Amino acid sequence: MVRVSTSILTQEKEDAVKTFYDLEVAHTDMFHIDVMDGKFVEKNTIELMKDYATTLSHITNLGLDVHFMVENIEEFIDEYIDLNPEYISFHIETSKTKERTMEIINTIKENDIKVAIAINPDTSIEDIKEYIPYVHMVLVMTVVPGKGGQKLIPETLDKVSELKKFIEQENYDIDIEVDGGINAETVEQAKQAGANVLVAGSYVLNSSNLKEAISNLKK
Ligand code: DX5
Ligand code: ZN
Repeated sequence: MVRVSTSILTQEKEDAVKTFYDLEVAHTDMFHIDVMDGKFVEKNTIELMKDYATTLSHITNLGLDVHFMVENIEEFIDEYIDLNPEYISFHIETSKTKERTMEIINTIKENDIKVAIAINPDTSIEDIKEYIPYVHMVLVMTVVPGKGGQKLIPETLDKVSELKKFIEQENYDIDIEVDGGINAETVEQAKQAGANVLVAGSYVLNSSNLKEAISNLKK
C-alpha cells in the first residue's frame, strides 16, 4: 500500500487551515513539513513551517512527516519532538561523522518517532548503507532540495530501485519515500522503482480537485 504525504511548502497563509481540512477530507495520509534554514538550502521556512506544524498538531490526528533541510538539526529538533510527528527526516549530507548521525537517529527513536535519512540526488545509496538497519525510512530526493514545483530527475529513481533491492536482500522492513516532482505521470515509475511513501506538493495543491489528485497518486 502506498501513502501520500502532501507537502504544504507552497501553501499561502490566508487559507492554510481550510486547505489542511480539505486535504484531510481528500485522504492525504500525512502532512509533509519542509523545514529549510536558508543555509542547507537557500530558502528559509523556519517560522512558517513551525506555525503550520503547530496548527496541524491541534487540528488533525494525521501524521506529520517532518523533512529537515537544515545544517544544524540540533537547533530545531526539540520543538518538533514536542509536536509528536510520525516521521522526522534529516539529510546525511549535513552529518559528517558516524557518531553524530547515530546520535540524531537515537534521539528521534527514543521519543517514539520514526526516523528517516534523506539523500540528495548526488548522494549514493552506498553512503547510507551502514545506517539502514537503524532507520524506519529512507527519503530519496527526486529533485534538488530547495523549492517545490521542479521536474523529477529520472536517474534518482535508479537509486530507489537499488535501495529497494538492497532492502529486500537484507530483509529490512523500511519505507522508501520519494520527494520532488511527483505527479500523475511520474508516480507510476516511482512506485515501480519501489517507493511506498509519496511526497507531493504542487501536483496536489494546484489541482482543482484534491481528492482526485490524491487518489490518482494512490491507484
Ligand atoms: C523540495 C521539498 C519538497 C517539495 C515537493 O525541497 O523537499 O517536499 O515541496 O514539492 P513538489 O511536489 O512540488 O515537487
Ligand atoms: Zn520535502
